[in-house]
Amino acid sequence: MMPSLDSPRHDGYARADMREFLKACRCEPTDFTPVWLMRQAGRYMPEYRKLRARFGFLELCKNAEAAAEVTLLPVGRLAVDAAIIFADILLPLEPMGVGLEFVRGEGPVIRRPVRSEADLERLREVDIQAAVPFVFDAIRTAKRALNGRLPLIGFAGAPFTLASYLIEGGPSREYLHTKRLIHDEPGAWRALMQKLAALTVHYLNGQIASGCDAVQLFDSWVGTLSPGDYRAGVLLYTRAVIEGLTPGVPVIHFGTGTAGLLELMREAGGDVMGLDWRVDLGEAWRRVGYDVAVQGNLDPAVLLARPSEIRRHAQAILDRAGGRPGHIFNLGHGILPQTPVEHVVALVEAVHELSAKGRPR
Ligand code: CP3
Repeated sequence: MMPSLDSPRHDGYARADMREFLKACRCEPTDFTPVWLMRQAGRYMPEYRKLRARFGFLELCKNAEAAAEVTLLPVGRLAVDAAIIFADILLPLEPMGVGLEFVRGEGPVIRRPVRSEADLERLREVDIQAAVPFVFDAIRTAKRALNGRLPLIGFAGAPFTLASYLIEGGPSREYLHTKRLIHDEPGAWRALMQKLAALTVHYLNGQIASGCDAVQLFDSWVGTLSPGDYRAGVLLYTRAVIEGLTPGVPVIHFGTGTAGLLELMREAGGDVMGLDWRVDLGEAWRRVGYDVAVQGNLDPAVLLARPSEIRRHAQAILDRAGGRPGHIFNLGHGILPQTPVEHVVALVEAVHELSAKGRPR
């Protein structure tokens, strides 16, 4: 059964209003600051954990009905202003034949990592429509259930972050295999980035064609690079992705640990720059320019504290945004699994309430 959007919480500030989030993406004034949260559908929710007891993570992603259901879980419960499709940035890599698995307690693992020209040649060509039809089906199902009342965000990994998983074989602290390839086999690096950029354009345009109202490009781990290496080996490919997307759909460009890269990421493109909590939002916005919107940037760990403290931190971030049009409230990274659901509800409520104060509604 699809969860209903007609929960009492939707009589609140969010009012399941399609427009506020999309207006903020375009730097247009809004009645309150729209808010959604990365990993809003995830392990902190008991309903999600219950589903996960029955299905593996990949199994869940590949079941379009279940994925649509998970997408809608936080929408009714939290009164957020956007839904994000339940999927993963690594899904388009599986059909390349690299042996993607999600291992409990370890996260994603790629059994056959790509570390040489020869490995690169073994990668299978991916026809994205044939490879991940379940993602597009889940989007169509979730869109139908949302019924025009809330926007649906699609997403993909940016070429660098995807490449880092393919090369490292999983998460990494230092990205040494990746950096060795960048510096020692620049031809192989460029070929891989080119391949991933083309794949990502098809993947995101497929999501847009299936009904997504905005898309987020996750370059989660790009903060490991120096500005020089970002410019030389990444910027071009991320820009090619963003320029290849169907026009008219806002693009959120997000990374973590990117304090040294913000201007360059801006140069690569995006209508909204996603900020993590290590930067001051006011300062970061000034640096990227007020002609783009910003998204962020509460430290996810603050959600472990009591609601009064959460509220105080939300206010501090709203203060840094200064009521300027084009702020979308979010965390600086995904919700931590140990976060109490009531704290997340309290955050969304606080953002709506504090940002609506004193504004015409
Ligand atoms: O935000 C949402 O609610 C939408 C769903 C979503 C997932 N992954 C579901 C997921 C999104 C937007 C992602 C993106 C993603 N996936 C990123 C970029 C965002 C980020 O966190 O920086 C990355 C790097 C991945 C790769 C990935 N998938 C990792 C590193 C992990 C393991 C870490 C973890 O949190 O467990 C996953 C698994 C994953 N993706 C889970 C979820 C809900 C947990 C899987 C489980 O149920 O055990």
